[in-house]
Amino acid sequence: MSNGPVSLTVRGGCAHVVVDNPPVNALSRDVRAGIETAMRAALADRSADCIVIRAAGRTFVAGGDIGEFDGPLLPPDMNDVVALVETSDKPVVAALHGTVLGGGLELALGCHARVAASETRLGLPEVTLGLIPGAGGTRRLPRAIGLRKALDMIVEGAPIRAGEARTLGLVDEIVDGDLPAAAETLARSLVGTDLAPRRLGSAARATAGEDVDAILAAARARVAQSWPWSTARRAAIESVAQGVDNELDAALARERALFEQCRAGGESKALIHMFFAERDAVRVPAWAAAANAMPIARVGVVGGGTMGRGIAIVFAAAGIPTLLHDSNPAARAAARVGIDAHFKSQAERGRLAPEAAQAAAAAATIVDSLDAFAPVDLVVEAAFEQMAVKLEVFRQLDRVTRPDAVLATNTSTLDVEAIARATGRPDNVLGMHFFSPAPVMRLLEIVRTPLTGASALRSVVDLSRRIGKTGIVVGNAFGFVANRMIFEYQRQGEFLVEEGASPEQVDRVLVEFGMPMGPFAMADMAGLDVAWFLRKEIPQMRPAGRRYSALADHICERGWFGQKTGRGWFRYEAGGRKPLPHPEVDALVDAERRRLGLSPRTVADEEIRERCLFALVNEAARLLDEGLAARPGDIDVIYAQGFGFPRWRGGPLHWADAIGVAHVHRRVEAYHDAGDPWLQPAPLLARMAAEGVKFSELERKAWIRR
Ligand code: COA
Repeated sequence: MSNGPVSLTVRGGCAHVVVDNPPVNALSRDVRAGIETAMRAALADRSADCIVIRAAGRTFVAGGDIGEFDGPLLPPDMNDVVALVETSDKPVVAALHGTVLGGGLELALGCHARVAASETRLGLPEVTLGLIPGAGGTRRLPRAIGLRKALDMIVEGAPIRAGEARTLGLVDEIVDGDLPAAAETLARSLVGTDLAPRRLGSAARATAGEDVDAILAAARARVAQSWPWSTARRAAIESVAQGVDNELDAALARERALFEQCRAGGESKALIHMFFAERDAVRVPAWAAAANAMPIARVGVVGGGTMGRGIAIVFAAAGIPTLLHDSNPAARAAARVGIDAHFKSQAERGRLAPEAAQAAAAAATIVDSLDAFAPVDLVVEAAFEQMAVKLEVFRQLDRVTRPDAVLATNTSTLDVEAIARATGRPDNVLGMHFFSPAPVMRLLEIVRTPLTGASALRSVVDLSRRIGKTGIVVGNAFGFVANRMIFEYQRQGEFLVEEGASPEQVDRVLVEFGMPMGPFAMADMAGLDVAWFLRKEIPQMRPAGRRYSALADHICERGWFGQKTGRGWFRYEAGGRKPLPHPEVDALVDAERRRLGLSPRTVADEEIRERCLFALVNEAARLLDEGLAARPGDIDVIYAQGFGFPRWRGGPLHWADAIGVAHVHRRVEAYHDAGDPWLQPAPLLARMAAEGVKFSELERKAWIRR
């Protein structure tokens, strides 16, 4: 029998209920209905004594269908489906493989036993989407593995491996061979046995011996410490707590009520937006989708500085043979040492097996001459950030590499099209803007120029996935997307300090908002000398006739470059990263205020939040209008991954939609009217505010071009 995405077959007395809903067997309404129908048929079928629930394809059920979470939950209710399984008189065994997540694990917990392929991972990740398990997970998991461990899994949201699940008693057997056959054998062996102790929903509480109050208190304290913003985690703990002693029906009803509260809240809307935005952002753009990707088997990197080294590490870690060249022999030697040290420390910290670390280090070769790049398929240039230097490097690369090799620049501020034009293959030139430190930061801006060809673009988008990066295609304009917005944000921070705020106050307000650090601590971490160099070198950093804050220049003139020199906006203890007050900067700020004739005023926290963050939103509207970012979600992902904009707020544009585009526009306009030329409302923002349009609606309304 086949019922849409769920089929039923009976063989040798065992019924197999098979879910087949690619790609991840999510529990859509049709799947829930299909399981219910198949279960009823299996229960009614006299030729079947026992039942196996399993899934086709790459994984068992990986959760509820997230796409259905923004509408009413349609019947059948997953709790009823699980109850049908759990109360069955015929033993039901779940055969697990792939990622058994959320509703998938809840379905498996309703079964009387579970077998798992050895590579399986199991978890309840709902809190990472701002939700809690809604089909008995908070009730049954503690009864399966004890309260402490269940709370860890539910609060962290991270899956565990099959081996650990076996040790904890969450799965009965690990199977290396034929999974359906093993599940069938176990199901047969349970026929005629007492299933009551295997019905986790109504089983006696498995918390005997555990200090329930202490464990719950510890979980609450942990959430307050690590995820103070997380309504979902607090709700999950409350649901687990009430499920310890409540009757099953009451426990499930309460869990569902808490789930619904979370589903209606802003946190889940923001996190679900991020889930889909992260997947949309890395799609190959439609215009390049039909192109052939070039196989990228060997890579060259130009530049042995921090960035070049980091980029070489990224490729080598992905197992791609990588050549690194720097014209300076000392830099070449330092790059070798740096790359080896990186992989050694990865092995020492247990992040890589020693053999894997060795193999990765061996994948990177330092070469004395660019001529060695003749066989590579792609070069990433990370040389000195000066146009003359880049043009010379690209002319050389154009000579030494194969004509079909892709040449990428890691510039963060220069014109990629001008670089492309210096070569005889402008269609095979683009930007690959890695963020620092390259091995850690997932974000990669893939910069296309009007000359970039579909095949080169497609190749690099595909490659970014292979090297574990979120490769997002952006347009070629000063600062691309990430830096162009962050410049506006930092600029407002500096103006606010000139007007009377302290760097500490600005940073505190933005950290309280949810940023991992404030703009000044971030600048100190990145190194103030880098931006100083750019301000001197690049005219766009200092448009004539516009307000300009020279505070950072004055700090740099004293040789204070941030963390690495122990002083910057803040002071740092030797080797420390914690920003401490820096009274000499206060004195410098006072002097600058006097020079500018500004008498310091008290700046309200609200003004700091608005000016810094609305500047981001306003600039984003310009980027979308100019076609430099393909969709608002791309900008949200860039800010979450590149600068730690809180995912639970959904990125700057989802957040702007949530607080109201018209409100943002009104405030930006007010600051502009009060004399800040930088906060002139973007035309798109003004139009959106006037017509009541949200960022999330721009694509559908075709208000932005790609
Ligand atoms: N509901 C709806 N769609 C889902 C989904 C879900 N629970 N899980 C994954 N998908 C979709 C993705 O959007 C993606 O669609 P796309 O190809 O159109 O972009 C596709 O399935 C593949 O997912 P992807 O994440 O790209 O594949 P992966 O192999 O890297 O990871 C998972 C697979 C299951 C580990 C991952 O998708 C995941 O963590 N999903 C969420 C699981 C979850 O939170 N479940 C509980 C829900 S309450």
